[in-house]
Amino acid sequence: MSRKLQPGRLVAATHNKGKVVELKDLFEPLGFEVVSAGDLDLDEPEETEFTFTGNALIKARAAAKATGAPALSDDSGIAVTALGGMPGVNTADWAGYPRDFYKAMQKVETALQDIKAEDRSAKFVCCLAVVWPDGHEMTFEGESHGTLTWPPRGKMGFGFDPVFVPVGRTITFAELDPAEKHAMSHRADAFKKLQAALL
Ligand code: IMP
Repeated sequence: MSRKLQPGRLVAATHNKGKVVELKDLFEPLGFEVVSAGDLDLDEPEETEFTFTGNALIKARAAAKATGAPALSDDSGIAVTALGGMPGVNTADWAGYPRDFYKAMQKVETALQDIKAEDRSAKFVCCLAVVWPDGHEMTFEGESHGTLTWPPRGKMGFGFDPVFVPVGRTITFAELDPAEKHAMSHRADAFKKLQAALL
């Protein structure tokens, strides 16, 4: 059964500041007050599923339960064709702890060089999940296609943005104006589907 998401308080079930900025940019113009799980000091649940959708649901369910408000989560990552889709759902883990995304990008580059990969294509994937306090839930998946460059370029964005050159462009996501990235990203693609169904 479909349901609309009423403008008001929306808990962004993430501690990732880069994602919070992008989610605020997408939802706040539509009348939502986006408060992050990090700001509310909520626990970060363990992401034990093997799909973006599964992990997005774990995060949104935990935040909806803890706050009694509708929760929005984002599970995302980069899937590299020549690496059989890795790091995929484990993208954040490749950065170790504390997170070091230069290390993660380097690890991907080393893996590509080790197999002398000619195919440097990759896609970002994003699953947005919305869970209401009464247990109703919806998920939306988006993708953004491109190629990986080395060395990293650009200072904007977060995570793997400095090595990702979207299709049709010659600059990386980290060199693009944030508004342009937000219009063409995997998150924007998932958001368009969410918007069509829930807003
Ligand atoms: P998780 O969804 O919290 O498990 O982490 C996803 C990871 O994928 C992030 O920490 C980033 O490294 C990467 N990622 C997801 N979306 C983006 C993006 O828009 N740009 C760059 N990296 C991203």
